[in-house]
This record gives sequence, structure tokens and C-alpha cells, in this order.
Amino acid sequence: MTQSLTIRRPDDFHLHLRDGAMLQGVLPETARHFARAIIMPNLVPPVVTAKDAAAYRDRILAALPEGARFEPLMTLYLTEGTDPADIAAAHASGLVKAVKLYPAGATTNSHSGVRDFDKVRGVLEKMAEIGLPLCVHGEVTDPAVDIFDREAVFIDRVLDPIRRATPGLRVVMEHITTEEGVAYARSGGDDLGATITTHHLIINRNHILAGGIRPHYYCLPVAKREKHRLALRAAATSGEARFFLGTDSAPHVDALKEHACGCAGCFTATNTMALLAHVFEEEGALDRLEAYVSLNGAAFYRLLPNEGTITLTKAGPAEWPAKILTGAGPVTVFDPGFPVHWHVET
Ligand code: NCD
Ligand code: ZN
Repeated sequence: MTQSLTIRRPDDFHLHLRDGAMLQGVLPETARHFARAIIMPNLVPPVVTAKDAAAYRDRILAALPEGARFEPLMTLYLTEGTDPADIAAAHASGLVKAVKLYPAGATTNSHSGVRDFDKVRGVLEKMAEIGLPLCVHGEVTDPAVDIFDREAVFIDRVLDPIRRATPGLRVVMEHITTEEGVAYARSGGDDLGATITTHHLIINRNHILAGGIRPHYYCLPVAKREKHRLALRAAATSGEARFFLGTDSAPHVDALKEHACGCAGCFTATNTMALLAHVFEEEGALDRLEAYVSLNGAAFYRLLPNEGTITLTKAGPAEWPAKILTGAGPVTVFDPGFPVHWHVET
């Protein structure tokens, strides 16, 4: 018997589209299934002002395939020079849906990020006042902290102090990877949400390192021990409103992934919905997939859920291209390492 499931069209609350030929190549992969996505601002140079965000949104819309319906939800990159008034105006006009905090040096193109949190106090207070969410890349950059501990240490040293100092600030813990992240997300009220990626529900650190180094599984925050993956699966499939999908699909050309110093990022835009159906079925939670991909995130961002639907069916083996051939070079699609039987009809 064919199993099938129809859900409202999903949204991706954390996506990297890049720019130029890469944007052109990867955007159709997201627009095929997703109605909207929160667009990460870590371009070179980053998307810092409302003017930058408006221009980037126009480039995204211009790169959409003929007939595609997709709405980019723009974000601004928080720097120590960010102007609270610019942010407030960008929010009031409806252009900007969130502000992104990268601790300086934490990940790809994050050198313009924040070093001294006192310097962004005024911006955070303005954001709390107007209800504009702060999306947080939650890793400390202190070289003395082990890379596998950087998320848990960030929560104690940075995130909790920021939240205590800024009552009312709405925060999304982006791409959480640990049981500590899950627990902290649960400790908050409706001012605290957390995204989980597709790949962190599937791989643990052994997949990256055991039996040979697999650069296409390397991303930041890096995948952790199995107990953390299990905590993430339980959270994502729990139905709790605070947890929602943010794929963190982060394309890099193969030449820069398969490299002596490979870039961080897994590219999952192409197969995320099939993989999530697989994961939710394994967890006996197919009835909660819609909340995770189509309802919880929209509610956190105070958006109406999408009107359209997608249908997932379970049939013969699902196939997708091993690589997306972009004008910037080939980008390898995330390989879950097991057969998947879920297909998306739109
Ligand atoms: C992202 C990228 O490549 O821009 N990489 C990643 O591993 N997730 C940056 C980020 O979100 O950390
Ligand atoms: Zn990201």
C-alpha cells in the first residue's frame, strides 16, 4: 500500500543561498519544495544594512526559475557598527524578519561578527522593544574551548547572559547540535525557539571521522556524539512549538569541500523533505512532520502558515542527483548513507 501524507507547504528557517552563479544554481533546489526561507546574510561582504538586504532580495527574486513562487525572508548581519534605527526601519517596512548574530570568527564569513557584546547592547534593546528576532550562531570562538564543547559553553557564557540582560528579546537558537541546546531551548518561554538541521538528525561525529575523513559531512556547528543526535531527534519529532526546521543548507563547491582546509557546510536543499519524512517515520512521528516544517517556525516568526500543500508518498527508492551543477562549480548533495523511499509531489 502506498503511504502518503499531505502537509502545508514548508518553510526553511535557516538557509544559505550565496550570490551570483551559486545563487542561480542552488535557488531552484529550495524553491521546488519550500514557500519561504530565512536567508542568511553571510555574504562577502555581509548583508549589513536595510539597503544591502533590499538589493540582495532583488537578486534572489531575479534568480528564481520561471513560474516559481518563493519568498525570501531577509536578515541583517549584526556588527558592532549596526545602527538600531536602520534595523527598526527595515523591520517596520516588512523587509527584514530577523537579525543574525555571528560571534566573530565562529564560522564561514563571520569575521565581521561581534567581538564585544556591550557594543551591540543598544541594538538588542531596540530589537526586544520591536519584537524582531535575533538568530544566534551559538558557538564560542575561544581557541581554548574544544570544538565539541563550543555550543554548550556559548549557552552559559554568552546566550544566557544576553537573554537575562535583555528581557523580551526574542531569540532563535540556530542549528542546535547538543542535548544542552535542547534543554536550554526548553527552559525558555515563547520568546525562545530553536532550529535543527536535517543533517544533524542523521549523522553523528563518527560519520565525519570514522573510516576516513568525509568532508561533505563537515559543517558548523560540527556534528556531536550519538547521544546528542538522539536528543535532537526527540526534540524535532516532539511536536513542541519551540522546535522547527532550519536546514542550514550551505553550498560550497566541491573543490573547496575536498580540500586540505575544507569549508564547513552540508548541502541538503535538494533532499531535505524526503529525508525528514524518513526520519519522522522512523520515530513514529509522521503526524508531527507538518508542525516541524510548516507550522512551528511560521508561528514563531508571526507569519501565517502557507496556503499551498505538498504531498509526500512512500514508493520505490528515491533518487536525487549526487551533485548540483552550478555555474560556480559542482555542489555535492548530502548523502544520508541509507536508502530513502519518500518522494515529494508538489
Ligand atoms: C555555513 C556557511 O557555509 O555559510 N556553514 C555551516 O557549516 N553551517 C555557516 C554557518 O551557518 O555556520
Ligand atoms: Zn548557517
